[in-house]
Amino acid sequence: PADLCLKGLQVLISAGPTREPLDPVRYITNRSSGKMGYALAEAARNAGATVTLVSGPTQLPPPGNIELVRVETAAEMYAAVIARAPASDIYIGAAAVADYTPTVMQPEKIKKQGEHVTLELQKTRDILAEVAALSRRPFTVGFAAETIDLEAYALDKLVRKNLDMIAANWVGQTQGGFDSEHNALEVYWKGGSQTLAMTGKKRLAELLIGLIAERLRVKAPA
Ligand code: PMT
Repeated sequence: PADLCLKGLQVLISAGPTREPLDPVRYITNRSSGKMGYALAEAARNAGATVTLVSGPTQLPPPGNIELVRVETAAEMYAAVIARAPASDIYIGAAAVADYTPTVMQPEKIKKQGEHVTLELQKTRDILAEVAALSRRPFTVGFAAETIDLEAYALDKLVRKNLDMIAANWVGQTQGGFDSEHNALEVYWKGGSQTLAMTGKKRLAELLIGLIAERLRVKAPA
């Protein structure tokens, strides 16, 4: 029988990439498949939670018994998450949100020009940091995707964004991270850490949900 460790709780999860349009036919995106976020949504649902999944464009089938909110851009993901975060008990930011978006979306297809072109990008809003800064905030879990200095960057994000927990993964390796069936996580919170070794994303999601339930109980005993 499943361990209903999140029974009665509202869980909000972001998953997948974002798409930042340059013109009507082109966009900037990344290699996120959505698998990690969808696996977390299913694990949270199986643990008894009511789950809302805010998803960028993915090839994955919609999971059963989960409210799916489809978005495309970082701005749309921001609006969908911020509207729902105050009523949520837990937020998990597994999406790979664009850090920068084209300053202008050209209304017509950009024409081929000289040998070089320059794209101007502007910073997007940091969804995770803004959720953590809400006055009525959910237990806030971030991800950190790094190619170097995993622990240092993850701890910096934990503290700077005032998160309850951060799940850090190596990306750009042969196994794990973006678009893989497998992943491994180094999970940090104030005063502790745990390694979740390389395994399938569905199993890994169950382990992370278990850890979140445990830390939530420490922070806010029932
Ligand atoms: O989707 P898969 O193919 O299964 O791959 C899973 C994954 C590698 C995408 C996932 O495990 C992961 O690491 N997700 C976070 C990717 C990421 O963008 O990491 P980051 O270190 O750039 O961002 C840190 C955190 O800030 C993340 O929680 C991110 O959701 C959040 N963020 C970033 C920018 C922004 N504008 N708003 C945000 O909320």
